[in-house]
Amino acid sequence: MIRLVKVSKSYGDTIAVRQLSLVVNQGEVCVLIGPSGCGKTTTLRMVNRLIEPTAGRIFINGKEISRVKPEQLRRSIGYAIQSVGLFPHMTVADNIAVVPELLHWAKSRVAHRIDELLRLVGLDPLEYASKYPNQLSGGEAQRIGVARALAANPPILLMDEPFGAVDPLTREKLQAQFLRIQQELKKTVLLVTHDLDEAIRLADRIAIMASGRLVQHATPEEILSRPTNKFVHDFVGTDRALKRLSRIGVASFIRPTHSVKLSTPMKEVASVCERCHWVWVVDDDGKFTGWLDRTSLPAANSVRQAMVVGDRDEITITKNATLREALSRMLGQGFNSIPVVDEEGRLIGEVSLGDVEAATAKMEP
Ligand SMILES: Nc1ncnc2c1ncn2[C@@H]1O[C@H](COP(=O)(O)OP(=O)(O)OP(=O)(O)O)[C@@H](O)[C@H]1O
Ligand SMILES: [Mg+2]
Repeated sequence: MIRLVKVSKSYGDTIAVRQLSLVVNQGEVCVLIGPSGCGKTTTLRMVNRLIEPTAGRIFINGKEISRVKPEQLRRSIGYAIQSVGLFPHMTVADNIAVVPELLHWAKSRVAHRIDELLRLVGLDPLEYASKYPNQLSGGEAQRIGVARALAANPPILLMDEPFGAVDPLTREKLQAQFLRIQQELKKTVLLVTHDLDEAIRLADRIAIMASGRLVQHATPEEILSRPTNKFVHDFVGTDRALKRLSRIGVASFIRPTHSVKLSTPMKEVASVCERCHWVWVVDDDGKFTGWLDRTSLPAANSVRQAMVVGDRDEITITKNATLREALSRMLGQGFNSIPVVDEEGRLIGEVSLGDVEAATAKMEP
């Protein structure tokens, strides 16, 4: 558990953080958010003693950190930053190994850990361990940054805009991966972001800061439905209902759907299409391939001829997606339902626009 009690930090006349009190419970993800310069990074860096507070006290698991040597403290705290901060002249493996080696882990244990962490962040050790940072994409480098922060299995993670430098699609994937890893590892996490959608998606609780002060500290649901004052209200913006959709998983909204195989005889396709205007098309393994409108049937001799081929990555979602993602796919494609597939891309059902509307209607205004 991390506990800040009336912590302040001044630089001459500039007050970066004012009287900040905040608790991050064990296993909880707390996301710090607020305008540029409001004191987020300063707060984070005081927790691992990269910066010393001017006033106030900080405790980790009940122990005041000013009494713990910074080097010792940092062993129990993983730190990942936006610019990633990988050592350019070291391979990916050596970068990840920095802290375990400081801790004098046996070579075999370090090697095993590197393998395990690369797999955890979704990178093939055979391909990536020996690469240098300048041979990585931005998203890959950020994943290595997260792997390095996790290396010595610290119970606490401090992350300063860890997914900041990548495109929205990669960012979404990194967030999903973070959530999966967090579900498994249950770290105590203090994460800084500029991106409200990211905060809503990742946080158990969000701490909104303004001018060095804590303005509201609450669950995403609470912040979206009951902003404490005009600042939070304006910060959260107008599409609050949409934002709340990103807290709702699609799993309980998946319904069975009509589909035909590439090999389904046209007669059978016609009979399926009597009940619906169009159907999803899957290959013989059940993998999503596209869709077919019944108006295209008369002119075609096979499903392959009649169908529209669809890009699986752009059209389908998995059962781990949120209603907001489902909605954005529907709007992007102009579909009133969107296919749901398993990890192998096999069609398992669909989510409809009507379901998203029903979920929005049930929210408090
Ligand atoms: N070393 C320093 N000397 C003087 N002022 C500083 C120093 N570090 C930070 N500040 C000031 O403290 C305030 C808070 O800075 P901080 O880096 O914590 O902001 P932030 O919320 O992380 O902003 P951003 O979102 O832009 O990263 C700013 O006004 C900044 O100019
Ligand atoms: Mg910052």
